[in-house]
Amino acid sequence: MSDHAHVALITGAAHRLGAATARSLHERDYRVIIHYRTREHDARKLVEELNERRPGSATALQADLTNPDEINALAREAVDYWSRLDVLVNNASVFFPTPTGSLRMDDWDNLVNTNFRAPVLLVEQLCEELRLQSGCIVNLIDIYSERPLEDHPVYAATKAALASLTRSWARDLAPAIRTNGVSPGAVLWPEDHPTLDETYKQELLKRVPLHRAGAAEDIASAVTWLVCDAPYVNGQIINVDGGRSVQM
Ligand SMILES: NC(=O)c1ccc[n+]([C@@H]2O[C@H](COP(=O)([O-])OP(=O)(O)OC[C@H]3O[C@@H](n4cnc5c(N)ncnc54)[C@H](OP(=O)(O)O)[C@@H]3O)[C@@H](O)[C@H]2O)c1
Repeated sequence: MSDHAHVALITGAAHRLGAATARSLHERDYRVIIHYRTREHDARKLVEELNERRPGSATALQADLTNPDEINALAREAVDYWSRLDVLVNNASVFFPTPTGSLRMDDWDNLVNTNFRAPVLLVEQLCEELRLQSGCIVNLIDIYSERPLEDHPVYAATKAALASLTRSWARDLAPAIRTNGVSPGAVLWPEDHPTLDETYKQELLKRVPLHRAGAAEDIASAVTWLVCDAPYVNGQIINVDGGRSVQM
């Protein structure tokens, strides 16, 4: 494995969209740092799979992103591991309803700290290194950041905040660092969401012009394109949603 290969940190990458993104960047010769919180087994399996393909090309780091001390440690360990960091993909997130009138403070803290504060603190810690490497940031947002999903006001607001950060960083961290976002539509259904039942899913897919859900690889390809093939793209948020955002 070349000591010069670029390095990407993908948060929440043990499974689903984060894992697909890690695989996709790895295929483009990136060394990847798979961040996880609880899914150690999945993270280790993914690292093993990628290291079998290219020895010494993947590792895993654990951190709870609601804890600023753990974020600082993650940032430090990520840079130290291969003595460089070129790409940060802010993918980790939580998604659940908070109907107005019954908001619990621990739900607020979880949503805001994971989806909004953690990317801010990570960029605070990593911007110097990303600047040194002329690196880039990709934020995983959501089409619901623009047109909110019923009963998810706080989730939608955290993603709208991340969209705003994307534009601020694109302005403030350039020219050294490019920052972009990807907004998925319906791609992988949440595993334990309390209100998205089968009827809801079928109804939602009827409103997608392509009439189907996307695949994790659709999102991973968009992130990889922004990282590897789009040197003049900065401050953009690409909706990868089968056209849903033009028909909401
Ligand atoms: N799936 C979709 O269709 C869809 C649609 C719109 C937007 N998105 C966005 O795309 C991104 C990826 O989606 P996804 O569905 O693949 O995500 P996901 O499975 O819901 O979450 C990804 C990871 O986030 C990590 N995470 C959650 N809270 C954390 C915390 N406090 N500290 C550290 N890690 C934490 C979890 O890690 P552990 O499992 O290790 O605990 C989880 O595996 C997210 O930003 C999401 O909002 C996805």
